[in-house]
Amino acid sequence: MDKRESFIGLCKPGIGDEEAKSVAEVLKSGWLTTGPKVKEFEESVNTFTNTNFAVGLTSATGGLHIVLAALGIGPGDEVIIPTYTFISCAHIVNWLGATPILVDVEPDTFNIDVEKTKAAITEKTKAIMPVHFAGHSCDMDPMLKLAKEHNLFVIEDAAHAIGTKYKGNMIGGHGNAVVFSFYATKTITTGEGGMVVTNDAALGKKVKQLSYFGVDKDAFNRYSDKGNWFYDVTDMGYKYNMDNMHGAIGTEQMKKIDFFIEKRRTLAKKYSELLAEVPGLTLPIEKDYCFHSYHLYPLLVDNFPRQKFIEKLHSWNIGASVHFIPLHLFTYYQEKHGYKKGDFPVAESLFNREVSLPLFPDMTEEDVEYIANAIKEILQ
Ligand SMILES: Cc1ncc(COP(=O)(O)O)c(C=O)c1O
Repeated sequence: MDKRESFIGLCKPGIGDEEAKSVAEVLKSGWLTTGPKVKEFEESVNTFTNTNFAVGLTSATGGLHIVLAALGIGPGDEVIIPTYTFISCAHIVNWLGATPILVDVEPDTFNIDVEKTKAAITEKTKAIMPVHFAGHSCDMDPMLKLAKEHNLFVIEDAAHAIGTKYKGNMIGGHGNAVVFSFYATKTITTGEGGMVVTNDAALGKKVKQLSYFGVDKDAFNRYSDKGNWFYDVTDMGYKYNMDNMHGAIGTEQMKKIDFFIEKRRTLAKKYSELLAEVPGLTLPIEKDYCFHSYHLYPLLVDNFPRQKFIEKLHSWNIGASVHFIPLHLFTYYQEKHGYKKGDFPVAESLFNREVSLPLFPDMTEEDVEYIANAIKEILQ
């Protein structure tokens, strides 16, 4: 097999002339901060996810932070999260003076294990934060039942999962609130960005206020021709409001989301077909309850050193990455919360073998064939 000339990276945002044009229009419009384009983006996400309230933000991290703040999580409280996730999930709990309680994950979906979540509940537990890893939904019904039995909030980290469905329903309206990320690598992107979506009007209003210093109205309501300079501050808020340029990009991305997800699913299926018979690999699955949006294609390389595998891919001009380093392996979480290597064996076993393969809408099926062939050569 000949080595391809150009490098194929892990991901490439699907940005076209439409986004560029829309941003240029915003730049010329004179309205740069939170405004009509953010509202349009929020409405399109509400329609897509069949939900009622949305707040556009600078990141999903900010969204998770202010949802917990809006729910009154603070010192003395515990929030249960999977150890197999991105660092922001644990840091935001610490920012509020609460304690993140890490839990191991399922070996097939990489998602938080419901039984282990149950075992981690104490009288200090206030919330559970399931993460829909790689775009595969968590099994929400048992999780919501557990939360109800113990009177806990459920905040879904759907950073990977816009367009994912659980039992036929879009991720968005299951728990108290759902948080999407529009970071550069995500299924739709605004470069940096995030959104909180909820069906709880009071929570939505509070999240909106906390996204801008606890002010009771946003800039558009203060500075537009219908605005009034006066405002009150009713809470201790933060500054996470999305600006109009990001709103413009997001609005255009939403017009393409069905295509993006369909393409991701086609490419993922192709990977799975081509790699199915290769010994020593475990491929991602799609459980009956899930419609997978394939933000990632997380391959498990069972019998070959993971780092060497990634280096070999590079030598074939193929990029790859690892999602995630389990949180309990980080020095900060070991020193502050006493976690140690060995605490969560499923997560560690997944981490030791996981390699995320390139997956983005601009890829072709020939690219997937090339990568699958390179993998076969490496493992021979
Ligand atoms: C599972 C998960 N949660 C939260 C985040 C944070 O998203 P953002 O970069 O938009 O803050 C990420 C980012 O990659 C993530 O992967």
